[in-house]
Amino acid sequence: MQNQEVYDSVVSKFEKRFGSRPAATAYAPGRIEVLGNHTDYNEGFVFSAAIDQGTFFAASPAEGTLCTIVAGNLDREVSFDIADVRPQKEDSWQNYVSGTFNWLFDGEPAKAGRGFNAVFEGNIPLGAGLSSSAALEMATVLALAKIYGVEKDATTLAKIGQKAEHTFAGCPCGLLDQASSLYGKAGALVKSDFRYCRFETVDMGGSVAFMMVKSNAKHELVDGAYASRRQACEEAAKFFAGVLKHPVTHLRDVSCAEWILYGGGLPETIAKRAVHPIGEDERVLLGASLLEKGDLAGFGALMFDSHESSRKWFENSCPELDTIVDIAKTLPDVLGARLSGGGFGGSCCLLVKPDAADGIAAAITQAYRKVYGDEPTCRLVKPSDGAHLVG
Ligand code: GLA
Repeated sequence: MQNQEVYDSVVSKFEKRFGSRPAATAYAPGRIEVLGNHTDYNEGFVFSAAIDQGTFFAASPAEGTLCTIVAGNLDREVSFDIADVRPQKEDSWQNYVSGTFNWLFDGEPAKAGRGFNAVFEGNIPLGAGLSSSAALEMATVLALAKIYGVEKDATTLAKIGQKAEHTFAGCPCGLLDQASSLYGKAGALVKSDFRYCRFETVDMGGSVAFMMVKSNAKHELVDGAYASRRQACEEAAKFFAGVLKHPVTHLRDVSCAEWILYGGGLPETIAKRAVHPIGEDERVLLGASLLEKGDLAGFGALMFDSHESSRKWFENSCPELDTIVDIAKTLPDVLGARLSGGGFGGSCCLLVKPDAADGIAAAITQAYRKVYGDEPTCRLVKPSDGAHLVG
């Protein structure tokens, strides 16, 4: 089993705390975003992958109405009654679990009838932009659905996690992180179409690999920058709905050519924000056709373009990420590089030749240290299977 040692640790902590084996344990991986940035809530397209690090959530029904959750990594424990499930400021990690529980029962968690006992633990680095919170939500939702006998399709489960983010964690995210964690496949990319919630997998082949390079810049989506980008996109979509002849509900419906023709009618900042997801959609579709032809160098070039668009238009990059991409551009065995996920810190995703990985990591570390004095963390990431029950 992938990450067996984390599984063993979760089960042993569960047995120690609750005196029996868990009734159900689920595993959910983190994700990397490969191409298509801030397109999910604009009903657009993304290439992503589930990674080889994740979170296990072990649970059993409780005797009474209390829910007790142990965060194995943090050595913390919280409890609440099923009649009093609400967002909490303290131990804010619990919001991902309690919010997911809340929406698994359509906002009426008391209907669960009884509480649950749970332990979770994982090995996704926090603050790296690898969606540790979505992994926790997806592991939670699978294990709790199992112990309560709730049956829902995968996309509905992903949306339950997204609702927990919106209403309990305060982040107005799209569906990318949860969907990637659920729909990932070993050795493959997930190609998502968020208008129709269609998720397919595309095999990558072994001649390339992904390297994640984590800067030490802070990554925090709840502080308003993510929300303000989303708002700008929605405002732009409304504007285009008024000037274009065809129906527009989201920026998915607007092309780059239309932005060039009409975007001048928008306030300058809104116009800058809008062209990023519009261009990203076009890059993902072009990238799909390049992948079909096996043109990995062409695909990588689109990743560089994507980062440039983040830097110039969406302004969701930061100096540390720009530095990593600039260094990556000088290395012949790096085919492409861009920020991955919300932005404003976190990690860059590099498309690399696997044999050259050690040399690439050393070159990036050395050049980055010269600028910032500290070292980024470089790690080869294996596209892996999505969330599933393991026991
Ligand atoms: C974060 C959000 C996702 C998505 C990405 C940017 O990861 O949680 O929904 O919007 O940023 O593409």
